[in-house]
Amino acid sequence: MIFLQNQDNIKEFISSFPRHVAIIMDGNGRWAKIRGKLRIFGHQAGIKAARRAINFAIKRHFDALTLYAFSSENWRRSDQEVSSLMQLFIHVLDNEMKKLHKYNVRLRIIGDIKRFEMQLQNSIRRSERLTCNNNGLMLTIAANYGGRWDIIQGVKQLAILIRQGVLHPDQIDENALCKYICMHELAPVDLVIRTGGEHRISNFLLWQIAYAELFFTDVLWPDFNDTVFENALNSFAKRERRFGG
Ligand code: FPP
Repeated sequence: MIFLQNQDNIKEFISSFPRHVAIIMDGNGRWAKIRGKLRIFGHQAGIKAARRAINFAIKRHFDALTLYAFSSENWRRSDQEVSSLMQLFIHVLDNEMKKLHKYNVRLRIIGDIKRFEMQLQNSIRRSERLTCNNNGLMLTIAANYGGRWDIIQGVKQLAILIRQGVLHPDQIDENALCKYICMHELAPVDLVIRTGGEHRISNFLLWQIAYAELFFTDVLWPDFNDTVFENALNSFAKRERRFGG
């Protein structure tokens, strides 16, 4: 049991936990290759790791968990891999939604989903509708998402307001644009975790991670478990966050 004696202690205790964690799930393909299997085998194992991470986030009472499932650049993969991934996403949404709903999770997809086949778009809409009134973990899946796309779609919305005469260019500032960037209404991203050994952001959230802490691990995504998540949280707790101050 931890005793918190004054306001400062409470603040320090609370700020040592991230409220919003975002994850770049990398390494499924390599995980499969090491085992002499097709890449899709790694993605299937990646789904299990995502399930573990979501359970962890629920247990730890995070406000929000954001997972990078498919980047705007992932269309460059072979037709076979893209199509297997789409089938896998439909399967996951149709089969896991009821369970997530039971756990009071609210699901939302960010990204340009219009490019997905109709069956997947329908599964996405159904899942979002089913869970829209839940107030537990906010689970965001970034699909056909890119950080630059996000900023551009926000700028386009401001341009429409200017054309309508509702906004003057002089009124464009951080606050004005922020309202149109995905996830602006959620707690800011505190921590970004990337598995798979690369130390880059790969056009994931750009605007949203301005002050986030970054944690990189060599662990391949299918091997990601509570211990690795715990290590990331311990590392986060040791960081001194100054937010530019
Ligand atoms: C990362 O490994 C793979 C992806 C980002 C694609 C799909 C992700 C999953 C299936 C995990 C969970 C999904 C959901 C919907 C929660 P990679 O293929 O880039 O691996 P590599 O770098 O070893 O090639």
